[in-house]
Amino acid sequence: MKKINIAIDGYSSTGKSTLARELAAQLKYRYIDTGAMYRAVALYLRRKGIGQADLGQILWTDLLADVKLAFKLEPGSDRAVMYLNGEKVEKEIRQRSDVLNLVSHVAAVSEVRQFLVEQQRQMSHAGGVVMDGRDIGTVVLPQAELKIFMTAEPDIRVQRRFEELRAKGGQEDWEAVKANLQERDYVDSHRADSPLRQAEDAILLDNSRLTPQEQLEITCGWAREKIEAATPASSQ
Ligand code: DC
Repeated sequence: MKKINIAIDGYSSTGKSTLARELAAQLKYRYIDTGAMYRAVALYLRRKGIGQADLGQILWTDLLADVKLAFKLEPGSDRAVMYLNGEKVEKEIRQRSDVLNLVSHVAAVSEVRQFLVEQQRQMSHAGGVVMDGRDIGTVVLPQAELKIFMTAEPDIRVQRRFEELRAKGGQEDWEAVKANLQERDYVDSHRADSPLRQAEDAILLDNSRLTPQEQLEITCGWAREKIEAATPASSQ
């Protein structure tokens, strides 16, 4: 069977990464979390003491030349985690609130987007990839055979994000989580370069009232249809 590419885009906290990871496991494909790459660049900047107000003065070519990103498998697991310049940064990119507050501004910088999009395209060259982000169906992989655009009602997304942060030991209150989510949605969908939007040929998935199992079954069905359609009859 042909190995297709699957693009999953959508708003923050719609469960994109959970679905993308599970779909990849079902299909024995590779999962690529592009948000982790933007977060790792934001972490690199924060460690240098750089904040939102400094982003306009940075010599991006020089700075990005020192940023080496890699996904590596955890020993004994099939879960890939983010490494920045040889150091595992998975926890920091998910938990540091200064990284969370900066990342959507970093993702609006064209030089950063070009730097990461290039790497994302290379990773999906041979097919067999499930990639999630904001611009996968529109910019990174416009030829992806299956494109899914995920959404859910705003309060449901805030609740999910709140529970996720609490489970990781975070202390944020509900209003702060809501404000951060709203700000990220706004910045992601209003930036000049590659704003978040549904590709014309993407299927809309509103999972407000779907269980994780239901949405996995639905999307697996879509993927199998696309794989069959992309595979020549002689090799099915
Ligand atoms: O999916 P996430 O929450 O880990 O994404 C972190 C930030 O990076 C968020 O502000 C959106 C941005 N992002 C992006 O602009 N393009 C992508 N392909 C992935 C993430």
